[in-house]
Amino acid sequence: MYILGKSVVFTLYGESHAPYIGGFLEGLPEGTEVNIGQIDEELALRKPSNGIGTPRTEPDEVEFLSGLENGRTTGEKIHFRIRNTNTDSSKYEMFNRTPRPGHADLPAIAKFRNHEIKGGNQFSGRLTASVVAAGSIARQFISEYGITVGAFTKSIGEVADGEDRSITDASNSRKNPTRASTKDLDSMMTKEIIEASEDGDSVGGVIECIATGLPIGFGGTWFESLDAEIAGAVFSIPACKGVEFGKGFRLAGMRGSESNDPFCFDNGIKVRSNNMGGILGGMSNGAPMVFRAAFKPTPSIGKEQDTVDLERMENAKIKIEGRHDPCIVPRAAIVVESITCLVIADQIRRDSLWNLKI
Ligand SMILES: Cc1cc2nc3c(=O)[nH]c(=O)nc-3n(C[C@H](O)[C@H](O)[C@H](O)COP(=O)(O)O)c2cc1C
Repeated sequence: MYILGKSVVFTLYGESHAPYIGGFLEGLPEGTEVNIGQIDEELALRKPSNGIGTPRTEPDEVEFLSGLENGRTTGEKIHFRIRNTNTDSSKYEMFNRTPRPGHADLPAIAKFRNHEIKGGNQFSGRLTASVVAAGSIARQFISEYGITVGAFTKSIGEVADGEDRSITDASNSRKNPTRASTKDLDSMMTKEIIEASEDGDSVGGVIECIATGLPIGFGGTWFESLDAEIAGAVFSIPACKGVEFGKGFRLAGMRGSESNDPFCFDNGIKVRSNNMGGILGGMSNGAPMVFRAAFKPTPSIGKEQDTVDLERMENAKIKIEGRHDPCIVPRAAIVVESITCLVIADQIRRDSLWNLKI
């Protein structure tokens, strides 16, 4: 069981080449408005774009089996599923014998009896479609509290966005296939992806996510810290290898006088800078929550690599053909947003500050 959350509980199920992937979402109050068109728009942002994504395309039509009626939640468990229509497993057979470096093949074969690597199975990025569908419902719930979540691509390979960006920039990035915040950066990032792909290679990058509207004190402490729960959830996205809040690892090299965000009165209590990414003690300090997630280059690449032959128990070479994303980042941006919405929805249903408001 792949379960996220305590009060708003999301259960993910499915495999890349099974008939369906899907999920259950429990714990949202009765009567939350759910716009199916918005779910479809957000699922479209996860689809591969021409030239910079896998040629595997799927219609991603969400079928709701329970929990929604006349565009509103009923308060019962929401069950939805998405059909897998494009499931050619032939190119994956060799990975059962010669596991792909950088992918989950080897540990999965060691752990699960009769594991078959069909399309990456439960380790496939395909399952993130269900995260986006559930996250879109959570996003519509948290918007009732004035909370907005947006992400954009901060870097791909060597191309980095050096500016401080806002939630509006994140929203505008939805127009750009790489999810860069500007058209110019989008062109440069596209070039970076295409160059890697033409070289039989892949490239990684960083996604920045921003959440606005969190009141001072929202969140939890220790294991329920907002940053701890978000980091845990974001790390579960396949290929995520790092999460940092605010200035993150750069804080380690600063002095306190430089890193502390001073408070001031300016139409309410505000912080003058946002080195902490909006979190103190696991709770919001009222500033936008800002974190970045690092995604590694796609493991399946066309270049020849060293691996092992598990039948002959000897060294082997592997050259991967088939349909793979040369860069995961553009498609992962909406997944990062969606999982963040799920964690915030869960914390709203647990947090007494918000319960007072309901
Ligand atoms: C949206 C998305 C698409 C992905 N597409 C591919 C792909 O085409 N080929 C591939 O080898 N890995 C792809 N991945 C990454 C693998 O699923 C991931 O690297 C693998 O499961 C191992 O997990 P880990 O990288 O977290 O250790 C994708 C991940 C995401 C989030």
